[in-house]
Amino acid sequence: MALLEATGVTVRFGGLTALDDAGISVEAGQVTGMIGPNGAGKTTFFNVMTGLQDTTAGRVFLDGRDITRLSVHRRARRGIARTFQRIEVFGQLSVLDNVLVAAEMRRRWDRSGPPPHEEARACLERVGIAEIADLSVAALPTGSARLVELARTLATRPRVLLLDEPSSGLNGRETQAMADLLRDLTEDGLAVLLVEHDMSFVMGLCHRINVLSFGEMIASGTPTEVRSDPSVQSAYLGSDHGAVQ
Ligand SMILES: Nc1ncnc2c1ncn2[C@@H]1O[C@H](COP(=O)(O)OP(=O)(O)OP(=O)(O)O)[C@@H](O)[C@H]1O
Ligand SMILES: [Mg+2]
Repeated sequence: MALLEATGVTVRFGGLTALDDAGISVEAGQVTGMIGPNGAGKTTFFNVMTGLQDTTAGRVFLDGRDITRLSVHRRARRGIARTFQRIEVFGQLSVLDNVLVAAEMRRRWDRSGPPPHEEARACLERVGIAEIADLSVAALPTGSARLVELARTLATRPRVLLLDEPSSGLNGRETQAMADLLRDLTEDGLAVLLVEHDMSFVMGLCHRINVLSFGEMIASGTPTEVRSDPSVQSAYLGSDHGAVQ
């Protein structure tokens, strides 16, 4: 059984159908990718799965349980965490305090594990930014800020991580480090679902890839299957991101 599953998701914004009967299946211990041209509906799909966006139709399941009607907060308690396409951190707080906020939040619903301070430090270690714990987040370059956001999600002890363009704004070395880190996290049993435009990142990292085009999930398969799918190639023709290679 899939850990996180969405079926028949339809979202309309006035006359615009942003998602049209779209579905996805995310397995524990795997990196699942979601790709598609700009405006295809990827972020909207994330918003549906995390509870930020109401649907016209469709269902979301975690561990086979219907969570469609649960609030953002209740879904977080059940183990869904996310990062944002435009990084969302508390700029006025230090790196450590950004993560501490999440560790303290989790503490309210789960008293197991170390105290929030230790938990937050452990999450910084996990993503490799312990040495900048006391710096203000506002002063950080994008690569480090993305890691702060990631550490903050880990502090909630998620079962599934939804990452909206995790390599955006990163240089080549940082992108490689991010891929290695995400691979390591799934080896601990975490499920990762990521949206990405960087095709070599997606193709090298994901076990399975789902392709969204104009709100419809037009393909789903291994990187090799998706890369050679003619409907995927044509969905990308004329898009800013060129062909899928
Ligand atoms: N709150 C909203 N109100 C109205 N239209 C919206 C809203 N959010 C998204 N849209 C529209 O829905 C469509 C899908 O947007 P979405 O942001 O999900 O695409 P995306 O695949 O994440 O794109 P990108 O690759 O550029 O991030 C777009 O046409 C967008 O303009
Ligand atoms: Mg988006």
